[in-house]
Amino acid sequence: MSEWVLILGGSTGHGAATAKRLAKDGYGVIAFHFDRGEAKKIAGETIAEVNKITNGNCHYFNTNAAALETMDKTIPQIAEITGGQPLKLMLHSIAFGTTTNFFGEKPVNQKQMDMTVHVMGNSLLYWTQKLYDAKLLAKGSRILGLTSEGNYVSMEGYGPVSVAKVAMEAIIRQIGWELGQFGITANSVQAGVTPTRALTKITDNWEAWVENTKKRNPMRRTTTPEDVANTISLLLKPEADFINCSIIYCDGGESRSGSF
Ligand SMILES: NC(=O)c1ccc[n+]([C@@H]2O[C@H](COP(=O)([O-])OP(=O)(O)OC[C@H]3O[C@@H](n4cnc5c(N)ncnc54)[C@H](O)[C@@H]3O)[C@@H](O)[C@H]2O)c1
Repeated sequence: MSEWVLILGGSTGHGAATAKRLAKDGYGVIAFHFDRGEAKKIAGETIAEVNKITNGNCHYFNTNAAALETMDKTIPQIAEITGGQPLKLMLHSIAFGTTTNFFGEKPVNQKQMDMTVHVMGNSLLYWTQKLYDAKLLAKGSRILGLTSEGNYVSMEGYGPVSVAKVAMEAIIRQIGWELGQFGITANSVQAGVTPTRALTKITDNWEAWVENTKKRNPMRRTTTPEDVANTISLLLKPEADFINCSIIYCDGGESRSGSF
């Protein structure tokens, strides 16, 4: 029987590439996305591909994965899908938040901050708690979240997401510290600037970011979702069992190379 991975945000970008890669590695894929309109069409293509690679061992939920009601409703369904077998991975790859500055024309407000920090940070904790309570995490399970250089540098429009990333990293560190004794590890993967749908929403200037990044990156290109998927595939191997409470960089050295 195949092992299962859970991907929150598995229809586009890093989450979609990881779903495809782990499907090729032989895992069954359970994923969440939250897509309407054009995005739903692209999601449909990802789902069809993952479904094909996994021979039908693929379940996508198109709903708000950050809502606690969603977690409570779907975790019994996830247990049914895996036959009660613990998940190999829970990856948080959700991009949904307010991208605006703290001051100026559209200063961020409390509702936007709370939502962004919940969806892109705290929701990882509630998923992990609930999966653990449902015995869907056990020895060998991995918790991974995606972070970015915005966790320690300031960028146009990135303030709220930056706060969420810092919260997520702290949550991941603490999960690994508390659950490490059971062989469950938790780590952040720091991706470099990656031209995905989420990037286009951070700033109108995103194309200039991409061009600057290509010059700045020691490897002279931006990160691809496949780079991140390959890193996650490596992190699922038994050889990575002792990596815990860490940040793993998948950025070609970008974060070590000057500023924009
Ligand atoms: N793109 C970059 O440059 C970059 C760099 C570093 C880290 N990251 C991080 O990688 C993660 C994924 O971003 P991406 O660039 O692949 O973006 P993306 O827009 O391509 O993918 C986002 C995914 O999240 C899903 N989603 C959004 N809101 C949701 C919700 N409420 N419930 C369920 N699913 C939801 C979407 O359906 C989609 O599958 C994010 O945490 C992002 O901050 C991105």
